[in-house]
Amino acid sequence: MWYKTKASEILGIEYPILQGPFGGNLSSVELVSTVSNAGGLGGYGAYTLSPQEIVDVDQQIKAATNKPYNINLWVSDTDAVDGTVSDEQFKQSQQLFKPYFDELGIALPEKPAPFRSRFENQVEVILHQKPPVFSFMFGTPSADILEQCRKLAIVTIGAATTLDEAIALESAGVDLIIASGFEAGGHRPSFLAPAESSTTGTFVLLQLIKEKVKTPVIAAGGIANGKSVAAAMALGADAVQIGTAFLACDESNTTAIHRQMLFSDAAKYTTLSRAFTGRLGRGITSRIAKDLIHKEKGFLPFPLQTQFMSHLRKAAIEQEKWDMILFWGGQIAPILKHTKASELMKSILEETTAYFDHLKA
Ligand SMILES: Cc1cc2nc3c(=O)[nH]c(=O)nc-3n(C[C@H](O)[C@H](O)[C@H](O)COP(=O)(O)O)c2cc1C
Repeated sequence: MWYKTKASEILGIEYPILQGPFGGNLSSVELVSTVSNAGGLGGYGAYTLSPQEIVDVDQQIKAATNKPYNINLWVSDTDAVDGTVSDEQFKQSQQLFKPYFDELGIALPEKPAPFRSRFENQVEVILHQKPPVFSFMFGTPSADILEQCRKLAIVTIGAATTLDEAIALESAGVDLIIASGFEAGGHRPSFLAPAESSTTGTFVLLQLIKEKVKTPVIAAGGIANGKSVAAAMALGADAVQIGTAFLACDESNTTAIHRQMLFSDAAKYTTLSRAFTGRLGRGITSRIAKDLIHKEKGFLPFPLQTQFMSHLRKAAIEQEKWDMILFWGGQIAPILKHTKASELMKSILEETTAYFDHLKA
């Protein structure tokens, strides 16, 4: 059976299909539990949550499913030196973005208070709550944290955008490695080289990693139906992680307009940009995303740029100026068909099984 893999065994799940966790408040308990209850692995992106919020979410997930699930954090969650930027750099950003704030008729934001990393406090909660699976991006947790996860039987999953990163994750002893391809929606989780020079596609990255690394690999990026699951498995993937197709389902915590955009013609074009958070992420190309290409000098480091842009985003949503927003999504969006997570799971499983049965016939 195609679904009996090393990854499904380690994760204790029936089907090696992971629902990609979504940070930035786009995950939902309903989506996680729907996917886990259907035999896959639901994932909750918790990097913006306070420790208490993570406890609450974990308890809600535990109440909604008795199957394995995953909670996800960002190991490195700031690029700002001392959590801040100089007044001069902040003025430069204000100047670059002023026309957009003017267009929306809102004031430019003040310089945000220094940002302090939240990872250490968040991970304490993970160790306390003991979700069956802990996945992370933007780096490798310390040896001590990984050792505690092992002792507590929490399965760990790290994300790689290059072969070097996969080797680093394997050396650290993580249980499973995600090969995160360039096609994927959301942020590129690069942590050794800049994201701009870590742009290998899923199926090349998967093969490079399979050549050199023994840890089971999960393919992520551009997978949304059974044929692409079968293709990933044929190339040696032990599991797949699907983001954009689940983000477009009613159960995710996206807005109705975001889901509409993912099913619209606009989704044919996507852009990788640092303009919206300070880190490189993929979303549906919009007027503002196009305008801001090659203007990186005026962007603040992550997450100060996210805070700065949150004002613009809020006003753009209120005024329905959709061309001033980057709606997160991957290159595969134009083939999406399903709006219910259980139907998406069912269709992926049927298609993958039919594909492998056809090979045997
Ligand atoms: C809106 C959005 C937010 C995401 N946030 C996270 C995150 O916080 N942590 C993470 O590990 N992956 C995150 N991802 C990546 C997904 O979990 C998944 O690996 C990726 O979407 C797979 O590629 P696909 O979009 O082509 O299916 C995010 C993806 C999207 C689209």
